[in-house]
Amino acid sequence: MSKTFAVIGDPIDHSLSPNIHSAAFRELNLDCSYIAYRIAKGELEEGIESLKKIKIDGFNVTIPHKVEMMKYLDRMDESCNIIEAVNTVTNDDGILKGYNTDMDGFLDPFKKRNMSVKNLKVLLLGAGGAARAIVAGFAKEHAQSITIANRTLENANKMAKFSNELGLNANAVKIDDVRDSAKYYDVIVNATSVGLKNESSPISLESIDPKTIVYDIVYMPMNTDFLKKAKDRGATIIYGYEMLLGQATRAFEIWHGMEAPYNAMKKALLGGV
Ligand code: ATR
Repeated sequence: MSKTFAVIGDPIDHSLSPNIHSAAFRELNLDCSYIAYRIAKGELEEGIESLKKIKIDGFNVTIPHKVEMMKYLDRMDESCNIIEAVNTVTNDDGILKGYNTDMDGFLDPFKKRNMSVKNLKVLLLGAGGAARAIVAGFAKEHAQSITIANRTLENANKMAKFSNELGLNANAVKIDDVRDSAKYYDVIVNATSVGLKNESSPISLESIDPKTIVYDIVYMPMNTDFLKKAKDRGATIIYGYEMLLGQATRAFEIWHGMEAPYNAMKKALLGGV
């Protein structure tokens, strides 16, 4: 029987998820379709009712519904519980179960490179929704410590508290205070939205060692100034599209119970960026 999947959010017309998942269906000859469905803020409850009516098999959740979606779940995976946000839902005869694949998606590029973050010192720029999944990922993989640098110190403080509760030793600073401190860290992640509009790197990377791992979660443009500066220093760089693919392949595996066709999905994504 044919299956239907969706991504819900607003705005949704530029979502890359329909392309990525449709490429996977084609690659594996699955009788499935995946649509983008716009649900405005404040209309989530009705939106979900209509998805249930058409017996949607599963859906992804994006801005602005990732947190509010928790209210409409019947069950929650641990990933969703920890991060307190949902990005993937299964529908089993009307029973909705929520997952958050952003954490595993974030870690996926390290695994693909056979790199471990165990005992590494991390500098995380940003303290928004995406940063939460990233902190949970570093805690799970036993990084040594994390410095959370953010424009608004209060948000960094909250994120540091979350990290410490997960057992990952954290401190919070203002982003301006780490502008020249990149050399003290093994891994530097940009989880701010700086770069989306081609802005220059939020901190200086001039002093970093080539052994540093530099990861940007901004995926459009693919080559942000932050990553270009890291590449100039010979650092290992991880692109934002890799996290996007990581969360999509993990969602695919939850829904379909089989390994996702990574390369076909990557090709569809990079063709679209
Ligand atoms: P996401 O879900 O992608 O994490 P978000 O929750 O809106 O998005 O978080 C955006 C992050 O980018 C925040 O850390 C934000 O900093 P504030 O907490 O101070 O708002 C950061 N950010 C956005 N614009 C920025 C800018 N111009 N300079 C520095 N940080 C910025």
